[in-house]
Amino acid sequence: MMVDNKQVIFKGYIERAPKETDMEIKITKVGLHAPKGSSSFLVKNLYLSCDPYMRARMRHSFDSYMPPFVPGQAIDGFGVSKVVDSDNPDFKPGDLVSGFTGWEEYSLIQKPQQLRKIQPDDDIPLSYHVGLLGMPGFTAYAGFYEVCSPKKGEYVFVSAASGAVGQLVGQLAKLHGCYVVGSAGSGQKVDLLKSKLGFDEAFNYNEEPDLDAALKRCFPQGIDIYFDNVGGEMLDAALVNMRIHGRVAVCGMVSQHGPYDPQGIHYLFSLVPKRITMKGFLQSDYLHLYPQFMEHVISNYKQGKIVYIEDMNEGLESAPAAFTGLFSGKNVGKQVVGVFSELTGEAFGEDIKGFVEEGADAESKGFRVNLRLIGGIFEDFQSLKDELIGKASREDIKGFVEEGKAFLGDFSELTGEASREDIKGFVEEGKEFLGDFRYYGSVLFTDI
Ligand SMILES: NC(=O)c1ccc[n+]([C@@H]2O[C@H](COP(=O)([O-])OP(=O)(O)OC[C@H]3O[C@@H](n4cnc5c(N)ncnc54)[C@H](OP(=O)(O)O)[C@@H]3O)[C@@H](O)[C@H]2O)c1
Repeated sequence: MMVDNKQVIFKGYIERAPKETDMEIKITKVGLHAPKGSSSFLVKNLYLSCDPYMRARMRHSFDSYMPPFVPGQAIDGFGVSKVVDSDNPDFKPGDLVSGFTGWEEYSLIQKPQQLRKIQPDDDIPLSYHVGLLGMPGFTAYAGFYEVCSPKKGEYVFVSAASGAVGQLVGQLAKLHGCYVVGSAGSGQKVDLLKSKLGFDEAFNYNEEPDLDAALKRCFPQGIDIYFDNVGGEMLDAALVNMRIHGRVAVCGMVSQHGPYDPQGIHYLFSLVPKRITMKGFLQSDYLHLYPQFMEHVISNYKQGKIVYIEDMNEGLESAPAAFTGLFSGKNVGKQVVGVFSELTGEAFGEDIKGFVEEGADAESKGFRVNLRLIGGIFEDFQSLKDELIGKASREDIKGFVEEGKAFLGDFSELTGEASREDIKGFVEEGKEFLGDFRYYGSVLFTDI
């Protein structure tokens, strides 16, 4: 069977920060089958990950660890997908997978080794497999434990701290008994770092005329570990504030837009008197640690000791804007693009509107609605209430639903369960409803 396949096409190489116009949306046709004898399988893409490294793949001749994108073809990157048809005995239709896939609705996977199967877990949103449990989460884990060699009580600084990698670095450092400060590019992100992510202190670098002074204010005693996600001026300022035997993990330099106009680092001499170790790393060098990473993070997440913030854009059309937004700090948390919402997966604003309007088979099909509030699934109402940042009436929700926005909310008020009829009722009644609408997210619908 041939169906439409919407794709995000890479238009051509650039030597600057990416723009939305560097990509275009095209609709092609795809057969929903994997060719016999190919060992390939066909997937429906559910979530796509926007990652800063993809910027380097838009350059023609940069010495990158990943091959450049091919002009005229769909972009590829990390994603969560569902197998539709398979000629590979290790992957069956219905299997959920995460790994390399195309920025399109359906992809034929010809390198199965680049994906791994996901064991569905009702407590873990599927999209986390490109964030908390995916490459960025693993980068935080490997970078913090293996490159930073942390010790309890040390002073840790993280830049781009509310992003996909930074938010987990900070939380791992807190769990390790460190004092943690993060920098981010807006007041909203700074609030999140302090109120949701447990950082001891945070500052908005855009409002600091002197980064050195900001770091001296936050670390009067100096920095033991700097987890550098941004490079540039922040790296320079951190270097002069490092303590003796400090470690700098060079994870990325999102502030530097290319090899063409690199910004110089002026205070490298600090490395000598302070005997600082500065080390670049790639998460892929540590893949043998993946099983222990999963165990550690899942266990802490389920105990409520780790939360994860996602920024979910709806629909493939929104992918170019979502991706380019990384370079101006538009994303609040891990930037994900939701391509398809599945009945047993996650639903966005438009789906919820559909459910509300249908109200039809509520008797026969119940839906459990789990609140995903800033990454957590809350079962207990009191702790939920304590966690809440804002209040909204059910009229507000109706408004949100009509606008088609993705939102976070708890429809059950107690255990996180509600039928479609309940949802319809809640919206129609206009009763007060507690929820957090400040951050994009989604409500998880699971067949029960
Ligand atoms: N080494 C590895 O294996 C590896 C793996 C994954 C990621 N990385 C690197 O880790 C870093 C973070 O990646 P991520 O996925 O977690 O991205 P992210 O932090 O979720 O998103 C990028 C963030 O960078 C910040 N930013 C953008 N332009 C900036 C500028 N000019 N100056 C300072 N900050 C700027 C923005 O946050 P603000 O609003 O706070 O500025 C933006 O939200 C990137 O450098 C990435 O390349 C490395």
